Amino acid sequence: MRTYLVTGGAGFIGSNYIHYMFRKYGDAIRIINVDALTYAGNLENLKDIEERDNYTFVKADIRDREAIEKIFAENDIDRVVHFAAESHVDRSIVNPEIFVETNVLGTLVMLNAAKKAWELPDGTFKADKKFLHVSTDEVYGSLEEGDTYFYETTPIDPHSPYSASKASSDMLVKAYWDTYRFPMNITNCSNNYGPFQFPEKLIPLIINNALQGKKLPVYGDGKNVRDWLYVDDHAKAIDMVQENGRLGERYNIGGHNEKQNIEIINIILETLQEMLPDEDPRKKLVSKDLITYVTDRKGHDRRYAIAPDKIKEEIGWYPETMFKDGIRLTIQWFFEHEDWMKNVTSGDYQKYYEEMYKNK
Ligand code: NAD
Ligand code: DAU
Repeated sequence: MRTYLVTGGAGFIGSNYIHYMFRKYGDAIRIINVDALTYAGNLENLKDIEERDNYTFVKADIRDREAIEKIFAENDIDRVVHFAAESHVDRSIVNPEIFVETNVLGTLVMLNAAKKAWELPDGTFKADKKFLHVSTDEVYGSLEEGDTYFYETTPIDPHSPYSASKASSDMLVKAYWDTYRFPMNITNCSNNYGPFQFPEKLIPLIINNALQGKKLPVYGDGKNVRDWLYVDDHAKAIDMVQENGRLGERYNIGGHNEKQNIEIINIILETLQEMLPDEDPRKKLVSKDLITYVTDRKGHDRRYAIAPDKIKEEIGWYPETMFKDGIRLTIQWFFEHEDWMKNVTSGDYQKYYEEMYKNK
């Protein structure tokens, strides 16, 4: 049975990926989820799978070399899928240090632990071992309207401390291929949205605020463009790259779905109005009057747009979920998981680990 070591699996994309993998492979794989449970890690995201025999959660920090090496020593890991990171640009502007520590040094710890476990005495690697580093389109910098797209060959030009730390970690992973032929891939994905996304990010923040009649903060002129991808499509792409990608290669992943932030906010407000029944008191609160233009993010990248041509041509992946469908699925999920949002905004979700794992 193939064993996956997933880092950051209690976060937004990592937890969706774990759900996707169990839906796809069932009992044919084993997943070990390593997460430090920072503010962004939430074990409630995984509560429906935590009793599975082929799932294990380990609370550990990827910067902790001993803890990570112990996991490799005790388990025959076949696949590493490395999500764990500090992921929010605004936080990186206020506190860059933790981004370098987790995203750069933490990635180095992961690389070294995998290399130590997988390397043979002759310097080659055990067969069928693979490390996938989950990265972002932000490493390519910023485009203007009318510019072309980000390709895998686009020069790396990060602007925020977050994207600089992700670019640095990408470079380290690439260096391990160039130097050691360490069996790796890098994926650079555009903005994700979907269930379990922490409400510091644009889409869940707007949904949550609108339903409570709170202001909807729009940075700058609201015309910055992001390329939105439904999170399940990202999970599928990661699996396809890991199984069918060429080792040593980087693959872009994107939604073919560029939208200005203000367009996104208007779509969410219109969709909420359509989906809420007339008798729901929240319907009266949802209004375009809540839109509030605020001071722009420092160094705010203007436009991201991914060309996912290579992954389509080489591997056959393409984005399947249209934005109009994905946003309804996301809003429906938030309607059905009001408690999840309440626990996240109150901080109660951080007690879940103590309660669920105290006897394990
Ligand atoms: P997230 O912030 O929701 O989750 C990050 C997870 O990593 C959390 O569970 C957190 O507890 C864990 N973590 C943080 N520091 C850790 C440490 N030192 N040790 C162990 N675990 C730690 O992030 P996300 O949005 O799910 O993003 C996951 C990955 O995907 C990141 O690498 C991010 O750069 C990348 N990415 C995100 C997007 C997006 O739109 N969200 C798009 C492209 C790429
Ligand atoms: O492109 C991929 C990246 O997408 C990932 O690597 C990051 O981890 C992820 O956080 C995301 O970064 P962004 O900065 O693009 O996402 P965020 O949701 O923070 O913001 C999306 C856009 O909306 C951006 O132009 C800033 C704007 N914004 C954001 C917030 C939180 C607002 O106008 N108002 C807000 O309140």
